[in-house]
Amino acid sequence: MKNTKKRFAAIFRLKKIVIIVAAAIMLSLFSWMLISYEIQIYDDKSILEWVKKKEMKGEFILKNGTVWLDTDGAPIQAHGGGIIFDEKTSKYYWYGEDKTEPNLPGKTCVPVTGVHCYSSKDLKNWKNEGIALPVFNNPQFADGTEPSDGLPLYIAEDSAVYKNSPLPAFSMKEKDPVPENGTVKSPSATLIKHNDANRIAELNALYEGLTYAQKKEMYLNFNWNKVVERPKVLYNPHTGKYVMRWHHDGDKAGEYAAAEAGAAVSDSPAGPFKYLYTSRLPNTAEGLEQQGMLRDMTLFADDDGKAYLIYSSENNKTTVIMLLDESYTAPAADKYGNSVEGVHWIRAHSDEREAPAVFKNNGAYYMITSGLTGWAPNPAKYHVAKNGIFGEWEDKGNPCAGRKADVTYNAQSTFVLEYRGEDGKTVPGKYILLLDRWSPNNLSQSTYVWLPLTVDAENQTLKLTYHAYLTKEAILGLPSPPLTLKEKIKAFFGI
Ligand code: GAL
Repeated sequence: MKNTKKRFAAIFRLKKIVIIVAAAIMLSLFSWMLISYEIQIYDDKSILEWVKKKEMKGEFILKNGTVWLDTDGAPIQAHGGGIIFDEKTSKYYWYGEDKTEPNLPGKTCVPVTGVHCYSSKDLKNWKNEGIALPVFNNPQFADGTEPSDGLPLYIAEDSAVYKNSPLPAFSMKEKDPVPENGTVKSPSATLIKHNDANRIAELNALYEGLTYAQKKEMYLNFNWNKVVERPKVLYNPHTGKYVMRWHHDGDKAGEYAAAEAGAAVSDSPAGPFKYLYTSRLPNTAEGLEQQGMLRDMTLFADDDGKAYLIYSSENNKTTVIMLLDESYTAPAADKYGNSVEGVHWIRAHSDEREAPAVFKNNGAYYMITSGLTGWAPNPAKYHVAKNGIFGEWEDKGNPCAGRKADVTYNAQSTFVLEYRGEDGKTVPGKYILLLDRWSPNNLSQSTYVWLPLTVDAENQTLKLTYHAYLTKEAILGLPSPPLTLKEKIKAFFGI
């Protein structure tokens, strides 16, 4: 009897231990799940509850790699772009490639619409400001219509004149807007899609007084069947104008033989911008057949009012920094009109890079670039110049850390934006790196990835990690606001 009692007591003790151990295992499993859930917040998986809660709190948040909508609910089309903070209006203006139109058949390019502009007070809500620089579209400059100084560069595509414009009968030589599919007109009515009659009149007024020959040259050079990439804008304090520069190419859409820089100006940040010209740059090298090429590019304004064009040159072998003159629309030169190496321009490096994004922090200049693999992602790299923008640029390697660092999180750099606090003042050392996640077979579906970029000013190093959500906390390096237990459980079970 005694023995049976003892046995029962032992079994009971054992059961207790088993229950306690099982409970402990379950508890740790559950906590592990909760902890890993919190870690996943910044991983690729979307956690809707968390996002909703953050949005309800009205915090700045963008979800990387998804379609971002403007305030009218339309997808934002501003690829390969850049942003200015306009002191006059206290607004951000974002300029980029409009890739709304479907890819040209079988090609990894779209019919060019122009440079799209959006404005925002908070980097989150973007208002459509329209196409700030639309390409010219009046086929009368190429279809044999009687030459006349009165022909407008822009014409509504639903007009009889446009519709009745015959197909051209001229060769496919340089600057001819004749695509392979045999029509001079854009496959899409991109001008009336984005501009009403008043805006079209406003655009044409910019070119009043030009001759037929001048306009024809402009039309042949800047139309839907060219390449307009990586537009950037600066406000010019010397002239009071907004200056746009971009990578202009062709001869036809998707071709990169021209390798020129474009220039346009406007009195207001949202445009309309007046097209001025496109041309090669004056950087030269002995024995080089193709002088002064410009492909991927950016603009940089220093605090002394000097501005620079920074671009992949010499068949993408080198990256050149070209000082601009006071208008920002042309290269700086000496009194004989010569742009001299070492004085007006330098080769920053010969590392075969593209997609440059340049900024200055604590007296040092930083340049983030990509490698040369077309639309496909590759490892990023950065260079630092400690002793002036024309000083030596040191190769610092890949700034990315973590998963997919070797393909820059499937994206390519385009611009570095200084982060500003609520008071509109820049926060030292805190930046946002703007990148593009390209979709080459369906370019209009390309998305944006904006990542917090932190500078260690002492060591002149950059830190870049992937964040699925761009939040103020992530930019400022603060811990993200923790979820309550209830929120964690709800989000974990997806309720
Ligand atoms: C990329 C470049 C893009 C675009 C693309 C075309 O390397 O950065 O802006 O030009 O090539 O393949």
